[in-house]
Amino acid sequence: MTRDEQPIQADLILTGASQVVPFSDLPHGAVGEAVAEGTVRDGAVACRDGRIVFVGTAAACRREVELKDGGEEMDCAGQVILPGLIDAHTHLPFAGERAAEFRLRLAGKSYEEIAAAGGGILATVSATRAATDDELLIGCRTRMDRMLAFGVTTAEAKSGYGLSRDQELRLLRVVARAHDGHPLDLVPTLLAAHVLPPEFKDRRDAYVDLIIREIIPAAAREKLARFCDVFIEDGAFNAAEARAILMAARGAGMGLRVHVDQLTAGGGAELAAELGAASADHLEHVSREGMRALAAAGTVAVLLPAVDLFLRKTAYPPVAALLAAGVDVALATDCNPGSCMTENLPLAASLACLTTGLDTDDALAGITARAARSLRLEDRGTLELGSAADLAVFAVADRAAILYHFGINHCRTVVKNGKLVVRDGIPD
Ligand code: NIG
Ligand code: FE
Repeated sequence: MTRDEQPIQADLILTGASQVVPFSDLPHGAVGEAVAEGTVRDGAVACRDGRIVFVGTAAACRREVELKDGGEEMDCAGQVILPGLIDAHTHLPFAGERAAEFRLRLAGKSYEEIAAAGGGILATVSATRAATDDELLIGCRTRMDRMLAFGVTTAEAKSGYGLSRDQELRLLRVVARAHDGHPLDLVPTLLAAHVLPPEFKDRRDAYVDLIIREIIPAAAREKLARFCDVFIEDGAFNAAEARAILMAARGAGMGLRVHVDQLTAGGGAELAAELGAASADHLEHVSREGMRALAAAGTVAVLLPAVDLFLRKTAYPPVAALLAAGVDVALATDCNPGSCMTENLPLAASLACLTTGLDTDDALAGITARAARSLRLEDRGTLELGSAADLAVFAVADRAAILYHFGINHCRTVVKNGKLVVRDGIPD
């Protein structure tokens, strides 16, 4: 700042951080080097009116930033500041639990066998349909509180355990209510095409028709869903059905994200790319052609490493090949009662590193900047002037330790829209 320049006014300053990691200006594909280069040591971040107004060294902050009357300065005491974390794939609204299935899997039964025997997604559909709105709301809020404590400030939330017009719309309305007044932002996704509901057992075409003619238009009219998703898999929906549903959703103004190539290779990544999907999720069995298509279309790969562990599957997504092909890779929990019962996003990132060899800086970008991109959120996921003042502060000196010391919650402080919402590990 030169002598006659005005200081930057701030209402919240976080200073004394060992590292501030902005994740800005990342190239496509691997980002490790760019993340390291952009990291500010002995750093500070200042916010005003819910936006970031300064990112730099603590020394520069002292020179250039002035705290407004009534503002707060917090000493981060050698901790690491990241953008608020973003969980780009969750099945947030549901009722019941499936611990008995967990035990069956430990005894050697597969996810597919359990589903074929009447368990799986349909077990949660029954429990969810039987739950009241308030019970579903409390379930969402409980999970959101846990996510926030891990440093997550935005999460995607899919319907998909209702599987009728009224039940799917009900779940999306619960998501809207859960979002309202909670510090965690939710991005709602319609997943009416999760599996075929029992009432339509021998009438696949009729259910696909119902989604296209009734559920998508109704969700669009009420502005209940920003995205539409389809589970493309044997036992769920095939590529032709998915194409028809996704084209209808696109026509209704929704963005697209898809569950693809999880249990079997089905050309799902190619379809996601062809339709201009924002994300293609899972991808354990993605083909070479699929990777090239995702890179060319700018479709983000959202990998869900905790699912592989939870389902005891060892076919991991080909992360190195995806990055080498120039695909942007995000990571998410897939928080749901069947294939991944956890809200711990940093744990999912640790597991990506451990199972696939993903570098820690790529993994941290996967739960910040890349996750934001997969949700088409341009105002967050990075620490840049003007972006949302969503921050997560971790009690480690080096960012890699967030993932290295795994399974632990290192997050002590969370800022959402410029307000401290978790202070010293305690929700405000
Ligand atoms: O993303 N793949 C489909 N849906 C979930 C599993 C849901 C469940 O088992 O309840 C998933 O893995
Ligand atoms: Fe999922």
